[in-house]
Amino acid sequence: MNEKMERLIESAAEIIAAARRIAVLTGAGVSAESGVGTFRDAQTGLWSRFDPQQLASQEGFAADPGRVWRWYMHRLEMVERARPNPGHAALAALEAMTPTFTLITQNVDDLHERAGSRNVLHLHGRIERFHCNGCGLPYTLRMEDRDAPMPPTCTFCTDYIRPSVVWFGELLPAQELAEAQRAAETCDVFLVIGTSGVVYPAAHLPVMAKRRAAPIIEVNPEESALSEMAEIWLSGPSGALLPRLVEAVRLRRAGQENPR
Ligand code: OAD
Repeated sequence: MNEKMERLIESAAEIIAAARRIAVLTGAGVSAESGVGTFRDAQTGLWSRFDPQQLASQEGFAADPGRVWRWYMHRLEMVERARPNPGHAALAALEAMTPTFTLITQNVDDLHERAGSRNVLHLHGRIERFHCNGCGLPYTLRMEDRDAPMPPTCTFCTDYIRPSVVWFGELLPAQELAEAQRAAETCDVFLVIGTSGVVYPAAHLPVMAKRRAAPIIEVNPEESALSEMAEIWLSGPSGALLPRLVEAVRLRRAGQENPR
């Protein structure tokens, strides 16, 4: 790691160590090093190979429910096989040393939880949960559903079962969004990790934090739509940088507790 990056990490750690309330927004990039593909990265991103309108919208589901079902079963399997990476673990460690910590994720995987994070808000739903597309009744996935060519149907209203993820044009879960907005408006620092920052309303959360004068710290190997508003941009993969950053915060916190 070069000297400039070391200095940036120390500056970020100083801000974070002084914060009592931390809010974090994560995107697909935080899971990239676990082997879960991002959406918009030019060569490897899911949306560069698949059409979001066909796979993640009511229209796409109505046109071909079997295709949508098989695609989500494939993604579910990929998420289940994936393991949390050191970036997920570092965020769980940061939560454990912070009085008020809210992890807002756009990811539908459960890698934050599996790494030990507790206060996680899933703005875009969860891929391992299911409900009826007609009446909303929750559904428990059965073994035989995984290889089925078509989605199972609801025992109550006979409509198709779908994954509990937010599709294009759908509203975000109201309670999660309200809690995320409150966290953004009340935090002392806002971390933005591994997101392109182009999907709203998630991308508006750092703007809300900034309006209340909270500094923004970003971790992303590429410049994002949010980089310009960040006080500090740590340019690199979160799996490598977050453990360094959180360790630097820990050392500073330890110093605050035991001043010489
Ligand atoms: P994107 O695919 O749009 O952006 C991924 C970001 O992660 C990019 O800015 C990459 O530069 C960055 N990245 C790649 N590798 C990284 C690494 N190792 N460490 C850190 N960052 C890395 O994904 P999101 O911003 O999450 O919505 O996309 C937002 C939403 O768009 C998703 O939640 C999904 C999608 O449509 C729904 O499904 C509703």
